[in-house]
Amino acid sequence: MRLGLDDVEADIIGKGYEYLIRKVAEGGGSWIVKLPSEKYVGMPENEYSMMALARKIGMNVPALELIDLADIGGLPRDVGAMEGNALAIERFDRLSGGSSVHIEDFAQIFGVCPQDKYKKASMVNITTVVVAESDDTDIREFVRRLVFNTLIGNADMHIKNWSVYYPDKRTARLAAAYDFVSTLPYIDDTGAALTVSRSKRFDGFDEEELVYLAGRVGLAKALVLDVAKETVELFHQHWTAEKNNLPLFADVVSTIAAR
Ligand SMILES: Nc1ncnc2c1ncn2[C@@H]1O[C@H](COP(=O)(O)OP(=O)(O)OP(=O)(O)O)[C@@H](O)[C@H]1O
Ligand SMILES: [Mg+2]
Repeated sequence: MRLGLDDVEADIIGKGYEYLIRKVAEGGGSWIVKLPSEKYVGMPENEYSMMALARKIGMNVPALELIDLADIGGLPRDVGAMEGNALAIERFDRLSGGSSVHIEDFAQIFGVCPQDKYKKASMVNITTVVVAESDDTDIREFVRRLVFNTLIGNADMHIKNWSVYYPDKRTARLAAAYDFVSTLPYIDDTGAALTVSRSKRFDGFDEEELVYLAGRVGLAKALVLDVAKETVELFHQHWTAEKNNLPLFADVVSTIAAR
């Protein structure tokens, strides 16, 4: 892909080391480009790989590509000297003509300030909304993502990394996946960004935790456990097949393998 970003709209986002750049790509569609981090090496490759793996397992992942920074014109001057790849992701909140689809992340839904994105809500709260507002397909997708992000060691699935959108302008549906990164190679966390039902520890994420979650939100435990088991099986299958084909740095492969 070649993106000629001549009229970029760039925002410093998140922790301040990354930019999101929005631009309608030449081939149509609207894309977000996430630039590499100076602090965390291989982040675009990591995110590309985790999202590609999630798609293989059956999750709703937008089109994405790794692009050489040298192929992006018009970058803001202070990032012009960066090298390597950036990650381009097609926006799920734009229609082909460019009009927007309303989205809300869970900080907006819960009225939580962005700086409190790791606090003031748990996966029980998020699951409650998905169960109340959406359908079986979204609930299954949601459980898949919860399990997948635990398997890859993503300690950054805070409330702004989950959204709903309104494709028919009335009904909330779980928005497509974004920001799936194996964070453990960078920061050796013991747990997830949010408490699941009783625990946020990765080693506390077991059948009991999921059964408790199902009970708290009124879901059939068989549904949650079936989807969880299927996700673990598909993960093993696709991870084994793809780990040497994905553009992953060795420490990411060894970190996930060790899990
Ligand atoms: N494909 C997409 N389509 C539409 N909006 C998106 C898409 N990907 C990300 N976003 C929006 O952009 C925001 C920032 O993106 P993302 O979470 O990937 O960046 P980030 O810098 O890794 O964020 P943080 O580290 O703060 O979680 C998201 O919270 C979401 O609102
Ligand atoms: Mg994010």
